[in-house]
Parts: sequence; C-alpha cells; structure tokens
Amino acid sequence: MDRITSGERFPEDSFEKNIRPTSIDEYVGQTEVKENLNIFIKAAKMRNEPLDHVLLYGPPGLGKTTLAYIIANELGSNIKTTSGPSIEKSGDLAAVLSSLEEGDVLFIDEIHRIPRFIEEILYSAMEDFTLDIIVGSEASSRNIRIDLPPFTLVGATTRAGDLTGPLRDRFGIVNKLNYYTEEELKQIAMRTSHVLDTAITEDAAYELARRSRGTPRITNRLFKRVRDFALVMGDGSIDLDICKLALDRLKVDSLGLDDTDYNLLKSIIEKFNGGPVGIEAIASSIGEEQTTIEDVYEPYLLQTGLLKRTSRGRMVTKKAYDHLGLPYKGDKK
Ligand SMILES: Nc1ncnc2c1ncn2[C@@H]1O[C@H](COP(=O)(O)OP(=O)(O)OP(=O)(O)O)[C@@H](O)[C@H]1O
Ligand SMILES: [Mg+2]
Repeated sequence: MDRITSGERFPEDSFEKNIRPTSIDEYVGQTEVKENLNIFIKAAKMRNEPLDHVLLYGPPGLGKTTLAYIIANELGSNIKTTSGPSIEKSGDLAAVLSSLEEGDVLFIDEIHRIPRFIEEILYSAMEDFTLDIIVGSEASSRNIRIDLPPFTLVGATTRAGDLTGPLRDRFGIVNKLNYYTEEELKQIAMRTSHVLDTAITEDAAYELARRSRGTPRITNRLFKRVRDFALVMGDGSIDLDICKLALDRLKVDSLGLDDTDYNLLKSIIEKFNGGPVGIEAIASSIGEEQTTIEDVYEPYLLQTGLLKRTSRGRMVTKKAYDHLGLPYKGDKK
C-alpha cells in the first residue's frame, strides 16, 4: 500500500516537476551543502573547467534529484539522466557516456544499483575521461579506448553504504542531505502555496511542516491532499482548522506518524517488551521486508528519538511510550 507519509516517490507525485525549485536560491534548507556547492560551481566556471563529480546521498524525498538539476542549471550545462536499474549491460552505460558533450552533467539516479561488472567502466570515465570497451566477440574481440569530453557526473543514492569504495572515491564532492527542520518545511509549504495558487495561513503551513517527517516530498503531497479538503469543505484556502481536520482524516498524527509506524512501535512494545529486539524479528512480526523497515520506516523514528539502535537491537524510547500514551516502565537492564 502507498503510504501518504512515505518519503518514496509514487506515480501521483508527477506534479513534482512543476513545483521543483530550479535555482540554488529557491532551494530551501541544506545550507551547508548549498553554500559549498555554490563555491565549487563558481570556481569551476571561473577556471572554465567542468565541476568535479558530485555524490548526493540521503533518504528518499529530500531533494537529491532536484539538486542535480539545479547544479546543471547553475553551471549553464545540459543534463542527461539515467539510473542504476536501467543500466543492465556495459553497452547501456557506454552508449550514455559516448553521447555526452563537453561540460554536460550526467545524472545517475540510484547509482548504487549499477551492476558491479559495469561499474568499472565508470572508473576511467570519471578519472581520465576515457571509455574502455571491448568490441567484437570472443576470438576477434579487442579493446578500444575512446576519449570522452570533460563532463560532471552527479550520482544520487539512498544507500551510500552500498557503493563500492572505488566508485565512492572518484567523487570529489560528497554531500549528505539531512532531514529538514519544521521552519524549512514551512517555507517549502509557503512556496508550494504560490506555485499551486492556493492560499495557506502561516500556522497551517507550520502544522503541515510538523507532520511531514522532515521530508519536502511529504510536505508537498500532504499539501495537495489538504487542498482538496479545503476546496470541498471550505472556500478553497487552507487555514489551521481545515488543515488539522484533513490531516486527522488522513491519519497523519502530530509527529507525522501513521498506522504503520504505530504498528511497528506497538509491536516492539507488546511482543518484545519494548526491546532490544533484532530487525528480523520486527520485520516478521509486522509482515514487512527488513530493507523496507531499514530504508523507509526506521530512519525517521530514529531521527525523532522514538526508536534507538543498540548493539543488541532496536529499542522503543520513553518518548515513544509517552507519544502513544502507554505507561513507561523505566530503563531495563
Ligand atoms: N530544498 C528544497 N526546497 C524546495 N522544495 C524541495 C526541496 N527539496 C525537495 N523539494 C521538493 O520535494 C520533491 C522531492 O524531491 P526530489 O525528487 O529531488 O527528492 P529525491 O531526494 O531525489 O528523492 P528520491 O530518493 O526518491 O529520488 C521535489 O519535487 C521538490 O518539489
Ligand atoms: Mg530522486
């Protein structure tokens, strides 16, 4: 089931293209990342050289793709895009690389999913701007080397830990995107209000922000749903009352938790006495994949301090007991 509070991209998020900021100034938050990138971009332009390769990593929906497009835009370059899962044969990658023109930005989304044996082609492409490929079959095969124009690779991944060392080392600029503050998400909601031409009061924007799990994609998705409630049940503009009513109806609580989060926390409390408990046991008790829990549900619960990781497994914190209105029995040995 698609959760409204998931940071992952769903097909109905296609409206994102229209609300994506296109310049660094419009991109809210991630201040350090932005300021540094701004300098590297300016320096590259002053030297008339391509920008060093950039790796962007962090949880889904925090603005990696958006930033990749902004980098190309700020460089005044064309951007070509592909993704790890769509590169199945070495020829797929060779075709993309040989189509590059001088100064282009090549954006590879989900770069950790490029098969290892193909990844090696990237090494020389990134380091020396050369493409080494084998042509012909079996007995008549030979290596050929093609020079590539200087370009900038921008790679994005939600799982930086899955990148091989050699690939990671070839990125001169490595940036981690972090969850946004409520204030930043409020600004994003205000911005979306302009783009979608739907008025929202400041306190309603803040309420949306508070329930967005630190993730702009969720802010925008909730905005769109709340806007429907405002249109049908009110005069079309969003105030705090309609915002709260809509979010309650959507079952998004004051911390942005939904049924799945409740299920996860409650099952650790009820079945495992609050933990510590291993991730495999949690996964089987709530019927979810282990990687889904690790990538999608858990990061925010850890970030907000409802869950903590210990050497013996996951533990539910006092904050979570309080939030769920359950009695906390104190720290266990
Ligand atoms: N810093 C920001 N300022 C304003 N809006 C943002 C910002 N970051 C992201 N957004 C909004 O959130 C949406 C999702 O961002 P984006 O698609 O770039 O995330 P992502 O990190 O690439 O996600 P995924 O891991 O799923 O690929 C964008 O369409 C944009 O509207
Ligand atoms: Mg993306």
